[in-house]
Amino acid sequence: PRALKIESRLSSLVLCGATLRRVGEVFQREIESGLRERPSSLQMENTYVPELPDGTEEGVFLALDLGGTNFRVLLLELRAGQLVREDVKHYHISDELRLGSGADLFNFLADCVQDFVRAEGLEHEEMSLGFTFSFPMKQHSISSGELITWTKSFKCSGMAGVDVAALLQRCLRERGLRVTVQVLLNDTTGTLVAGAHKDPEVAIGVILGTGSNGCYMERAERVQHWEARHARVRDVVVDIEWGAFGDNGCLAFLRSAFDSEVDDHSLLPASFTFEKYIGGKYLGELLCAALRGLARDALFPAPPAWGALDSAHLSLFEQENLSGAWSQTSDALRTACGAPVSRDDALVAQHVARILSNRAAQLVSVCIATILRRMGRAHAAVAVDGSVFKKHPRIRSLMDKYIALLAPHHRFTLQGAEDGSGKGSALTAAIAARVAARSP
Ligand code: BG6
Ligand code: GLC
Repeated sequence: PRALKIESRLSSLVLCGATLRRVGEVFQREIESGLRERPSSLQMENTYVPELPDGTEEGVFLALDLGGTNFRVLLLELRAGQLVREDVKHYHISDELRLGSGADLFNFLADCVQDFVRAEGLEHEEMSLGFTFSFPMKQHSISSGELITWTKSFKCSGMAGVDVAALLQRCLRERGLRVTVQVLLNDTTGTLVAGAHKDPEVAIGVILGTGSNGCYMERAERVQHWEARHARVRDVVVDIEWGAFGDNGCLAFLRSAFDSEVDDHSLLPASFTFEKYIGGKYLGELLCAALRGLARDALFPAPPAWGALDSAHLSLFEQENLSGAWSQTSDALRTACGAPVSRDDALVAQHVARILSNRAAQLVSVCIATILRRMGRAHAAVAVDGSVFKKHPRIRSLMDKYIALLAPHHRFTLQGAEDGSGKGSALTAAIAARVAARSP
């Protein structure tokens, strides 16, 4: 009877094929509306990146990566499209900076660039920089754009309507640096570009990390919003921003009580609802919410403290489950719940982890399958990056399974892409230079 009660308590997290197909249909409709600038929860942002690498990319570039787990500054050198040098330095962004004023954050970013170029002995060099800014933007061109809303764990004040590339540029100039922000891109774009460099079949870029999002190559004529010149552009990368899918209520049928609890506790409630079903930042919190729900009904020994479990725990529980073990699961739960946890309890937590991982994989697969069908190619490769994709023991195989079920007539491969914000941003900067040189 305990097992039955648990199943019934968790049933709102279990999605059937019909529900997934319905999500796919809604996603398709929201895509169309977004591209046409009609009301939609999908932004379908024109990134102004009109082509992918062709192997001629050359030059030395700086890159800045803000928005994932790590903040990094990079120096990259490309020769005939090949990356021949990559120096990286990680910097820590404190909570104070992530939640403080935008001006403080951007001054800090510029300080880091200065520190980095000094250490590299390049302080007086003229250099181009690719800024990977992993947040939703209203892009005006390949090198400018405004933040629409913060997501994940950032919430800085004073950024409404501010062009983030121009702000970074100003902070760099104030430090006397001769660095030009040449491209402003989202991490999904970086992932797509870096992936396409390795394999020309890559046409979709996906992030499954702290947050989740995707971008793909769309026909330029299907994109309504163009501010910058685009004569002779055939295709363009569109940043979907699927984290916000459903923010207009179109996915209300998916939402469980656990999702509402996670949303209520989040830094930015009532926004990026879909991301909160998938992103690594939220999977641990969902695990907490579900186990707390079970504890309320006396189906679990004690509620884990809010925030005591993260996505690494989810991966650990999944890993142990795969190998039939449970000791580390119960150790982690004992700490999180402050109470002894039996083998059966540990197995319950592993079961919850499986359900949540499965749902996340299903939902991200719906998005990818819908894009594959929309693109209609015989075969397309999908470049995927992000900590959840890299570290979760089952997510990749689940995605392979669900995408194949949802897009049975389209062949695809998921490719682990590394370093979208490094290599991808340098390649995008080189592409921008190439395109600019061709313009009359
Ligand atoms: C990195 C990419 O590998 O993955 C970044 O280079 C991206 O561009 C990041 O933002 C996303 O993953 P996470 O897990 O750090 O949010
Ligand atoms: C969030 C951001 C989006 C980014 C994604 C993955 O959803 O809004 O721009 O691509 O996280 O980092």
